[in-house]
Amino acid sequence: MKDLSRIALEVHASTTLQVDALYKKMKSEGIDVVGFAAGEPDFNTPSNIKEAAIKAINHNQTKYTPASGLLSLRQAVVNRLKADCNLDYTPEQIVVASGAKHNIYITLCSLINSGDEVILPAPYWVTYDEVIKMVGGIPVIINAKESDDFKINSKQLEANITDKTKLLILCNPSNPTGMLYSANELKALIDICIKHDLYIISDEIYYQFVYDNKKFTSVAALSEEAKERTIIINGVSKTYAMTGWRIGYSASNFTIAKTMGNYLSNSTSAPSTISQLAAEEALNGPQNSVYEMRDIFKERRDYIVNRINNIKDVSCSKPDGAFYVMLNIEKLIGRELGGRIINNSDDFAMAFLEKGLVATVSCIGFGCKDFIRLTYAASMEDIIKGMDRLEKFIGTKDK
Ligand SMILES: Cc1ncc(COP(=O)(O)O)c(C=O)c1O
Repeated sequence: MKDLSRIALEVHASTTLQVDALYKKMKSEGIDVVGFAAGEPDFNTPSNIKEAAIKAINHNQTKYTPASGLLSLRQAVVNRLKADCNLDYTPEQIVVASGAKHNIYITLCSLINSGDEVILPAPYWVTYDEVIKMVGGIPVIINAKESDDFKINSKQLEANITDKTKLLILCNPSNPTGMLYSANELKALIDICIKHDLYIISDEIYYQFVYDNKKFTSVAALSEEAKERTIIINGVSKTYAMTGWRIGYSASNFTIAKTMGNYLSNSTSAPSTISQLAAEEALNGPQNSVYEMRDIFKERRDYIVNRINNIKDVSCSKPDGAFYVMLNIEKLIGRELGGRIINNSDDFAMAFLEKGLVATVSCIGFGCKDFIRLTYAASMEDIIKGMDRLEKFIGTKDK
């Protein structure tokens, strides 16, 4: 038989989902394993949202919708972006897709020609790297160091721009690092993008999970010029504990939104109507569950950061947002743990899962070595258990 697509054969399965699959398999076999791998809130979807979906079914709201989503949902997105981020869009600029991941995919489909370069600060969420390649683009990685709070600066950005550079991808607050760019830091980066005529994909899906009264600024709120060349990525998965409903959205200029809609109309047609109506309730309805989740995440973050920094030979920075911490395991490289020599983060993650019974994610797939990503979107009980196991696995307690 003839070969499959060369591009498709280069695509790797999402490493985070792979680890999660193994964790779920172990769990289904009755093994008492703790999961710190998948980036999904452990909370249930709030009941007003679930009821909206039930109502949609009972009222036979089960037909196709416009490709870019129900007008009423896009209006709800417009209202939320105004209320939360002080952004002015119209529904024609909003595209609803089957998860924010899908919005990222169709955004890149709409922007990238074969050979275009995309600047991607590392550590990055693994999907960006794969999707850039899936659409024929070339990722250009800029490494952000832990000592710089895992953030890049304008000098680093400018040094990596060539005549092939098409866009910059930012994730703020970041998965996997949890770090947050301030308005000034963002402005310095976006000024460079404007100077070199670059687009910006700004993935702001964790914007509601920012702690210690730090202020989140949307890239599109910096200036009209920034807004015109920015594609905001967002969705309901994280904010409303709706990962399985598969609704994401983007906000961009009219031309990009229209192009994305054309892609949708010929691929998924539109996301599930029932999920769209649930998302509409999420965005329009009471927001107290979001703030409650945020407070709980903050408590968990404080606990996990404190525990990690009291375990010998590992450490982590305190993240400003999202629900991840980056465990620095530099000092464990070369050591034997769980019957395995730890040569890198992949070895650690595998040994910690198999012998320590805790699922985490190696950051090698995120373009960053000697770090492990842990999510604290897990119950406090599991976090305590997981930290006890980390202490035991590393084999020493005192700093
Ligand atoms: C930064 C970031 N963007 C997008 C997504 C995907 O969200 P969705 O479930 O809406 O596809 C994730 C999920 O892990 C994420 O971490």
